[in-house]
Amino acid sequence: MTDSWWKKSVVYQIYPRSFADSDGDGMGDLRGIIAHLDHLAELGVDVLWLSPVYPSPQDDNGYDISDYQDIEPLFGDLATFDELLSGAHARGMKIIMDLVVNHSSDEHPWFVESRSSKDSPKRDWYWWRPARDGMQPGAPGAEPTNWGSVFGGSSWEFDEKTGEYYLHLFSRKQPDLNWENPAVRQAVYDMMRWWLDRGVDGFRMDVINMISKDVSLPDGRLNAGSAYADGSAAFIGGPRLHEFLQEMHREVFEGRDGLLTVGEMPGVTVDEAILHTDPDRHEVDMVFQFDHVWVDRGPDPWRLLPLQLTQLKAILGRWQAGLAEAGWNSLYWNNHDQPRVVSRYGDDSPAHRVASAKMLGTVLHLHRGTPYVYQGEELGMTNYPFGGIGDFRDIEALGQYRQAVELEGRTPEEVLTVLRARGRDNARTPMQWDDSPNGGFTTGTPWLPVNPNHREINAKAQRADPDSVFHYYRRLIELRKTEPAVAGGDFTMLLPDDERLYAFTRRLGGTELLVIGNFSGVEAHAPIDGWDGAELVLTNLDEAPKDLTLAPWQAVIYRRSV
Ligand code: NOJ
Repeated sequence: MTDSWWKKSVVYQIYPRSFADSDGDGMGDLRGIIAHLDHLAELGVDVLWLSPVYPSPQDDNGYDISDYQDIEPLFGDLATFDELLSGAHARGMKIIMDLVVNHSSDEHPWFVESRSSKDSPKRDWYWWRPARDGMQPGAPGAEPTNWGSVFGGSSWEFDEKTGEYYLHLFSRKQPDLNWENPAVRQAVYDMMRWWLDRGVDGFRMDVINMISKDVSLPDGRLNAGSAYADGSAAFIGGPRLHEFLQEMHREVFEGRDGLLTVGEMPGVTVDEAILHTDPDRHEVDMVFQFDHVWVDRGPDPWRLLPLQLTQLKAILGRWQAGLAEAGWNSLYWNNHDQPRVVSRYGDDSPAHRVASAKMLGTVLHLHRGTPYVYQGEELGMTNYPFGGIGDFRDIEALGQYRQAVELEGRTPEEVLTVLRARGRDNARTPMQWDDSPNGGFTTGTPWLPVNPNHREINAKAQRADPDSVFHYYRRLIELRKTEPAVAGGDFTMLLPDDERLYAFTRRLGGTELLVIGNFSGVEAHAPIDGWDGAELVLTNLDEAPKDLTLAPWQAVIYRRSV
């Protein structure tokens, strides 16, 4: 991959089961996406990332794959996929696939074979271990390590038949593949080439920084009050990660142009990300880091912390500075694992929802990096008014609730307070297309309810309203195409100690942009000199600010020649 067209691009993430249902079964599908390609083309995005559409028992909504080279029947078939791909290409949009190869489904034939006997030729394709020394296999505490799984409970599942345990960092239906085994790696590369040959334009790589494990599998640190330990030191950025990614690049991507690769890397540091994304090292084009979405999370997972803007700026400023010379940032507020940003870092009340959604978009899209828009973000969609645990469908919410309430003595209410604000189902309620019952998402019963606010917040109304969040996002995306400093300019953070204003400049050649976002519901003055008479490029409110005094949730972009 020699070109870096993706520096000037915007990616749109589709979570297929919640995007659009064409056949009334309550579940989104490929034909539903095809029907809405014009919405995406009008928005102006360049790349579509599809969350997994492969055959799957849907234990983790498709992140548990039982066949890497086909389409989940709920979503369609390969012929429909090809139609979607050509429909996107015809509109000038590329498609990248979700690559989920840290683990497969336990129903994948590889795992079925692996678990069939200790002598299976595929035994070593997964992580099998005996019980802890001197302990009865299957007895409480006999798991090979003390690690907890991301979704609650132990990360080891005991298999009665062969008397051993297998590792699953996520659900027990997501056994971890053993990347130490070269045959596993070759099988994955084969599959990736097969999709590229079919015409897809790259991959978003699920938890790809967990594929290399410390093979000694050491116990993790146990935090006070937790039933299980954090084992991540043994598998985040493991010893062979760079080697595996470089091998993958050689085997799969070398000699192919026009592709995009983005590695999802929870816990990745700036220094590691530079190594992963430096084009001379041939690993991935960009990574998803998590620091800026963990800023409202303290040491106690069941306590909400308010956003501290100075911290958010310190984090994103560090990433901007770190990847200024080599490597490249991805920029996101939202995805299918995060609550809606307007409810999280903005204000989703009727008075401020539209302004704060636009302000958040402005700040994000004007950073240096490739912005990602998650379905519905372009409408300012909000969190859902969840009630009790029975309202949630997400395996993470259900598993963590069980562990916290049953094993760790938390009250249901303290856990629910956090799940309502942060739970992943907030992102997964159906896309709001119009004001009809079920928001135009389905004619049947949606698998997760549509947010009742679809009567006010929906794509149809916003496409008809030039002042909508949708048209504002369209203008932001367009600005990236018309103003070279947006994609190419360098980045300087201003006012790092201000708790209300997020301000920075971007500079390329003789052009400088000033971007300011007011992250508060009160008026705020930016003490920045030298911008009198500068050209106002964009603001999210009717009135331009006077003397850099921004109204609540206002955003501005100015341009000057330097
Ligand atoms: C990260 C994905 O984004 C998330 O949705 C999934 O549950 C885990 N990886 C496991 O695949």
